[in-house]
Amino acid sequence: MIIANWKANGDFESNKVWCNRFIERMSSIGSKSIGIAPSHLHFNQIKSDLKDHDIEIGFQDIDIEGGARTGSISPSMAIDSNISFCLIGHSERREIFNEDNNYISKKYQALTKHNIKPILCIGESYKEFQAGKTEKKLQSQIEKCILGKTIQENLIIAYEPIWAIGTGNTPKPKDVNTIHEFIKDVVQSASEKNLRPKVLYGGSVNKLNAPDFFVEKNIDGALIGGASLDANVFSDIIEIFSRHKEK
Ligand code: PGA
Repeated sequence: MIIANWKANGDFESNKVWCNRFIERMSSIGSKSIGIAPSHLHFNQIKSDLKDHDIEIGFQDIDIEGGARTGSISPSMAIDSNISFCLIGHSERREIFNEDNNYISKKYQALTKHNIKPILCIGESYKEFQAGKTEKKLQSQIEKCILGKTIQENLIIAYEPIWAIGTGNTPKPKDVNTIHEFIKDVVQSASEKNLRPKVLYGGSVNKLNAPDFFVEKNIDGALIGGASLDANVFSDIIEIFSRHKEK
């Protein structure tokens, strides 16, 4: 699956141009595993503009419950909007909004309770990467966020090294492949149903490096920030994905 994470970007006019261009390109690509996470404000616009296409539209984040929580979007609002998936635990939420694993675990449980597909983002800092602590960090994030809870069959994990997000630096695709296998093992061994989740890679994916990632067996797709803001570039990446994984 390829997911666009638009973060706090977009406006009604440029979104319309984006969707028109994307629809033109999609008619020749025909991939079946595409997701877009626009802002909450633009969710309905994108859902309506792309309604005739097989594209999942989801949220970038969600609150744990509704009620007296000024500024929040609750899980039942998400259901009301008919979302297809929801990102949780993105490193920008962890860093800028001080969300810890305990809070992300509550978000995970809220999504499970409402039967919404969770995309749990995990990743290590550059310091942890350099110290060889990547797997330890990922295991602890997985354990604290989801283990011991019901593991949803449609759970997706997005591995996003913090130091690779928006920087142009990426780990080696072969190393990412090994890390994804590790992530799948950790989740599988905790899953009563022996579930092996799909694992997406995120962090400076572009159309030049995409082929090197998608050739790897355990890289099941990508979560794409900057490169998803241009409909042509995003379509190019989907085309590459489709060539490698959907033939
Ligand atoms: P990037 O962002 O593709 O701009 O590095 C990825 C993400 O933050 O999900």
